[in-house]
Amino acid sequence: MRGIILAGGSGTRLRPLTSVHSKQLLPVYDKPMVYYPLSVLMHAGIREILLISTPQHLDVYRDLLGDGADLGIELSYAVQEHPGGLAQALLIGREFVGDEDLCLVLGDNIFYGHELPTMLRREVERLDGCTLFGYPVSDPERYGVAETDEQGAIVSLEEKPARPKSNLAVTGLYMYRNEAVDRAARLTPSARGELEITDLNLTYVRENRARLVNLGRGSAWFDTGTHDSLLEASTFVQILEKRQGIRISCIEEVAYRMGFIDREQLALAGKRLSASSGYGQYLLELAGA
Ligand code: G1P
Repeated sequence: MRGIILAGGSGTRLRPLTSVHSKQLLPVYDKPMVYYPLSVLMHAGIREILLISTPQHLDVYRDLLGDGADLGIELSYAVQEHPGGLAQALLIGREFVGDEDLCLVLGDNIFYGHELPTMLRREVERLDGCTLFGYPVSDPERYGVAETDEQGAIVSLEEKPARPKSNLAVTGLYMYRNEAVDRAARLTPSARGELEITDLNLTYVRENRARLVNLGRGSAWFDTGTHDSLLEASTFVQILEKRQGIRISCIEEVAYRMGFIDREQLALAGKRLSASSGYGQYLLELAGA
């Protein structure tokens, strides 16, 4: 399976924070936002990843993450010229995806959960059609909203409905069989001129091939679309990390635990960040250096 991170958009809702910066590079406590979705793909066992961003920002991502060799993964980069909708990511990534299945994650979505890595790998194995990940929220009207039967098959799916049929928000993590790329190519732009991910997902709902995994209790999901949700995500990470003395979504640690890099490479990553950074120190301690 290949992974795509979509880190585009103009971040209008967060201006002036995003007047010059890419939204998905804003800090979420101790690391850039994009580390969180990247760690999700890595936890799913995905090692070939395409990062899509705007023409202004793509080089900054390249500077930050490089070709992925330090993490034992292969990172490539592509430009989204204009914000043309989430489903456009599949078209931009067409060549990159080739004949493989794919997992798309939005660069501003943060997932955390003890069982998440195991669950992700299980879902990669059992994928047929499309698999979405739902999270119960108190404000579903802000999101894609799904309704499922007892088996988890999606029976209805609506984008930002005024009257949501459930409290299950569709998170920004999507797994598809390869055919999704052709389906994305056949979509027509919505009223707001974008290729909607919900329209793509609906093609699977109509065929009864769309599953929703409810992340539910025991996990956390944040989108960082507003100043408040951005701060809440940071606070969540801070509390967890301070209390437990661990770091979450630390991509070097994930690479190490997944067996993508060895202890020496982990120590090297720590040294590069310098021991005066708590983050670098954490990597050095983990490596026993
Ligand atoms: C997008 C999707 C929506 C999904 C959300 C998750 O919305 O269209 O279905 O629930 O991401 O973050 P946006 O944040 O682009 O408004």
